[in-house]
Amino acid sequence: MKISILGSTGSIGRQAVEVIQKMPGFFEVVSLCGGDNVELLRQQIKLLNPKNVCVKSESNAQLLEKEFPKINVFHGDEGLVEIASDKTNERILVSVSGKTGLKPTLAAIEKGVDIALANKETLVMAGDIVMKRAKEKGVKILPVDSEHGAIHQCLSNRKEVEKLIITASGGPFREKTIDDIKHATVEETLHHPRWNMGKKITIDSATLMNKGLEVIEAHHLFDMPYDKIQVVVHPQSIVHSAVEYVDGSVIAQLGFPTMHIPIQYALTYPNRFEGIETRNFDFIKAARLDFDAPDFEKFPCLKLAFEAGKAGGTVPVVMNAANEEAVFAFLNEKISLWNIYEITNFMVNSHENIENPSIEQIFETDEKVRNSVRNLIKDEKFV
Ligand SMILES: NC(=O)c1ccc[n+]([C@@H]2O[C@H](COP(=O)([O-])OP(=O)(O)OC[C@H]3O[C@@H](n4cnc5c(N)ncnc54)[C@H](OP(=O)(O)O)[C@@H]3O)[C@@H](O)[C@H]2O)c1
Repeated sequence: MKISILGSTGSIGRQAVEVIQKMPGFFEVVSLCGGDNVELLRQQIKLLNPKNVCVKSESNAQLLEKEFPKINVFHGDEGLVEIASDKTNERILVSVSGKTGLKPTLAAIEKGVDIALANKETLVMAGDIVMKRAKEKGVKILPVDSEHGAIHQCLSNRKEVEKLIITASGGPFREKTIDDIKHATVEETLHHPRWNMGKKITIDSATLMNKGLEVIEAHHLFDMPYDKIQVVVHPQSIVHSAVEYVDGSVIAQLGFPTMHIPIQYALTYPNRFEGIETRNFDFIKAARLDFDAPDFEKFPCLKLAFEAGKAGGTVPVVMNAANEEAVFAFLNEKISLWNIYEITNFMVNSHENIENPSIEQIFETDEKVRNSVRNLIKDEKFV
């Protein structure tokens, strides 16, 4: 299978490279794209010998051009779009973080290339447009998120579905008080009990905004109304998600808490192969599976995401942009963890919704919100 990885130097991208290495002869890597981590990209180029690469800055692109004269080197957002538009690809893995994923995903759809989608922000920002266009072009959008990969495996006849059940580990503050959360440091927040992920998604997991983004992602991927999507806290992260059917049957997908399995599933679907996971799952060793309701008071971002999703239009765009900017500010110790919710909630509530926005209106809204949030933080309005 000819594939390209957008975000090969990130947490998902690195694990995808491990999957590829464990399946010799199955994949041919057409393109690799990183952001700023040129050193790692260099190692991946030597390992996988791609035809094209892309990096964020022009100066890094020039460096790589000198080093690898036989490889086409691109840079910036246009470079990502160029690489995603290459019809040589049979599948592309979109695992860049944040809003960067949307344009290349749309470009790949236009060229009829199937997409393994890790970047959930793409569907949060423009789920209606992306899914509609993918359907028109006959493009498969294969979820990489373990929860959506699980639902994808459990879902047969959509019409017979009672509800989707998305599990959540609960993050590092599941057993903490609101006061603890309000005073959480960056270091504490980055310490996720189950998953080792990029910084942005790790902070989102601590506020449960990540689960909120996943709810919106599930709504678009599986065309399911919000009142048929339930979030259940499951700290062991063994049940990755489930589907309840109208006859009362529940089909769940279980496995070790590792991203290798859902990444491999999205890259090799509809087939399954032996790959990186060699352990056999053992119910007896798993022993105990706990489930609980999410605490919306302690994690108001989850409630906000349900509301934003239901409102639709540009409201999820605003929520996503405000949250992403606020997360960066928290990581830079400019605001507190709780401020992320306050800022995002403020931006969502002061926004005049555009129903059925065009892609241009989505990008305009995104940019406007990001500027407003930066100004709010600069003026210390929320500190
Ligand atoms: N990690 C997980 O377990 C997980 C699970 C489910 C879904 N996801 C989703 O997958 C996406 C990636 O998550 P992650 O944890 O892998 O994030 P990450 O570790 O931060 O990796 C992000 C990747 O995107 C690249 N990148 C960032 N900004 C870029 C830009 N402007 N131009 C080009 N490349 C850019 C980074 O490059 P450099 O590092 O070289 O700068 C890196 O390769 C997110 O949308 C996340 O929600 C992640």
